[in-house]
Order: sequence, then C-alpha cells, then structure tokens
Amino acid sequence: MLYHSAVVTVAPRAPLQIRQVPTVAPSEGEVRIRVEWTASTPLDLHQADGGLLVKHPQVLGDGLVGTVVEIGEGVQRIKAGDKVPTNFAPEAAVTVPNNVVTVFHTINTELGIQLLWPKPSDYEPPHADAPFLVWGGSSSVGSYALQILKYYGYRNLFTTASKRHHERLKSFGARYTFDYNDSSVAEAIRVAAAESCQRGASHSPLIPFIIDCIGSQSHSLSPLSDIAHTGSKVAVMLPVIVRDATKDIPPEYSMDVQAAAHWRDGVEVTGVRTHFYLENEFFAVHLQPDILPAVLSQGIVKPNDYRIVQGPTLLARAQAALEALRRKEVSGERLVWRIADE
Ligand SMILES: NC(=O)c1ccc[n+]([C@@H]2O[C@H](COP(=O)([O-])OP(=O)(O)OC[C@H]3O[C@@H](n4cnc5c(N)ncnc54)[C@H](OP(=O)(O)O)[C@@H]3O)[C@@H](O)[C@H]2O)c1
Repeated sequence: MLYHSAVVTVAPRAPLQIRQVPTVAPSEGEVRIRVEWTASTPLDLHQADGGLLVKHPQVLGDGLVGTVVEIGEGVQRIKAGDKVPTNFAPEAAVTVPNNVVTVFHTINTELGIQLLWPKPSDYEPPHADAPFLVWGGSSSVGSYALQILKYYGYRNLFTTASKRHHERLKSFGARYTFDYNDSSVAEAIRVAAAESCQRGASHSPLIPFIIDCIGSQSHSLSPLSDIAHTGSKVAVMLPVIVRDATKDIPPEYSMDVQAAAHWRDGVEVTGVRTHFYLENEFFAVHLQPDILPAVLSQGIVKPNDYRIVQGPTLLARAQAALEALRRKEVSGERLVWRIADE
C-alpha cells in the first residue's frame, strides 16, 4: 500500500498536523493526481475552528492543480503526465474550480435559472434587465457569479463590496456597486433598484434574484431580509455565520437559513451546498471536465487574484494560510500555496 502526506485537523482550533494516509488507486472513470498547488478557502477555517460537524482527524483541501499520475478504467481523454490545467499559471488556475462550480450550481439549482451549455449565440436570458443582487462581489464566489451572469446576458447586476474593489467588479459586469460597510446600504440598494426599473420594464418583486456569497447572519442575511420581498429568491452560501471566532471564542454556525433572519412572507430562501451539483446529471458529466476549461480559455471568467502563502514546509504553509483566514486578511484574493516541494 502506498501512503502520502495529508494536512489534517486534529481537534477544533488546534494546530494542524501532517498524517500519512493511504493513496487510493483510481476506480473506473477516475484519475489520480499528484497535487502541486491548492487554495485555502473559508471551508478550511470552518472545519478547523469547530462549529461544523467534523470528525477529526479531517483531511483538509479540495481545490487542486497537479499532474495526472494514474488513470482508472475507461478514462479516455486524460493520460498519465497530463497537467490540470495547462493554459494558466497553476497559482491562478487553482483559484477556479470550487467556486465556478458553486456558481453554476447556485444559479441553476437554487435560483432555478437554467444555464444552457453551450450557450446559444442569440441567447437572451429570462429577466435580463431585472435587478439581480450578488451580495459580496469581491469574494471568490461573488466575483465568479458576476462574470458568469454577465456572460449569460444579465445586464442589471447589483453588488456589495468594500469601495476599493468597485471598479474591478464593474469590469466583471456589475452595473451598481455598494459599500456593505455603509449602515444604509440596504436602503441605497432598494432605491437604486427602483430607479433602474422606472427607467426600464418594472419587475415584481423589485429584486427577484439574490445570491448571498457571505452567509453572515448580521452582515449579509440581516440587510438582505430588508431587501427581499415576496417572490424574491435568495440563495445563501452555507454555513450561516452566527458568530465569528475570536482568539478566545469558538465560532457559531447555523444551517437554518430560514430561521437566521426575519424574512418577509413569500421570500424563497435556500442554503447552498455545492457538493449536491453532482445530482444534476449534465453537470456531473460536463461541469468540471468541459465547462470549467472552456470558461477559462474563452476568457468568460478571469481567475481570482491570488496571494502565494510562503513557508518552509507543507505544514508551515497550511498553518500560515489558516491563520491568515482566521485574521480575516482575505480581501478580493485567494490564498494559494504549494503542496509538493519540487
Ligand atoms: N456551502 C457551500 O457549498 C459553499 C461553497 C462556496 C463557498 N461557501 C461559503 O461562502 C463564503 C464565501 O466563500 P469565498 O471563498 O467566496 O470567500 P472569500 O473569497 O474568502 O471572501 C472574502 C471576501 O468577503 C467579503 N466580505 C466579508 N464580509 C462581507 C460582508 N458582510 N458583505 C459583503 N462582502 C463581505 C470581503 O470583501 P471586501 O474585501 O470587499 O471587504 C472579502 O473580499 C464562505 O463562508 C464559504 O464557506 C459555501
């Protein structure tokens, strides 16, 4: 039996450790990849800090870039030695898979807007001019959501982010940008949405579609419950963060998006769990192998900006990335780091 090093949590908020874990041979339709780069995400922090049901030791990490070393039965388009992927720097490419998948799944399954692939050349989406709010546009999920909605023809995109990101988010397709640090942000969004509708066709509800890319009970769900009206569909990235961790206090999360805010009657709120994208037969077969490489190579999405986390060992880099997430240093960028040392 082959073994390889894995970064694991061993207890809530305890320092990470390296464990040797079995290297599983690929089954039918699978490949084995030697991972060269990964990106740390808030999920790593949620798992490491407690608040989510995690059975320790929990192996961290899922977004990856590397080289195929072994293929399972029936694999035809990929062979040992292939790189995943080839046309971008690995540090940039590793920012892409998790959250482009999250966005396709969220829009298609949670908001019920079918994203046709390939997109017909004369495609005009339903509700192209209705206000569509992406709360947290500078997050990884938010920046991909804006770009993919723009590609599908949504023209009235609203987003929130710190001011320094506003110009970039306009280049991704946002028409109106708001600073979520402003205490009257919900009112400003409602007024701008109403004005945008007076200039064009009216819509009911005023903002039919909302993606909450942050999932913070006080800092996104609460203002969104002021903005959403009967008939609005709201998709919230789980978990709902009820209380952020501090150095001394563990975090608190909830999976109940309905109870986490005072929603008006008739607002349809759902919680996003990306891994359910595999229940969609088309996405299970085409999203990662075909759609992801195409949206990258056709320039439909730009990879997230990234910061390379340095450290002398795999463990040091993993721990440094986790601590940067814990200090809430991440703003409009992904933390990426090398797995393999050569
Ligand atoms: N359940 C699932 O399947 C799933 C899938 C993907 C992601 N998620 C969850 O979705 C959340 C976002 O993930 P991510 O990787 O996209 O995060 P990320 O890129 O690390 O998010 C960082 C960004 O969040 C923004 N932000 C922080 N608080 C905000 C607020 N109150 N309003 C608006 N923006 C705010 C910051 O904006 P500024 O820099 O502009 O201040 C920063 O750019 C995480 O909790 C993650 O676990 C869940």
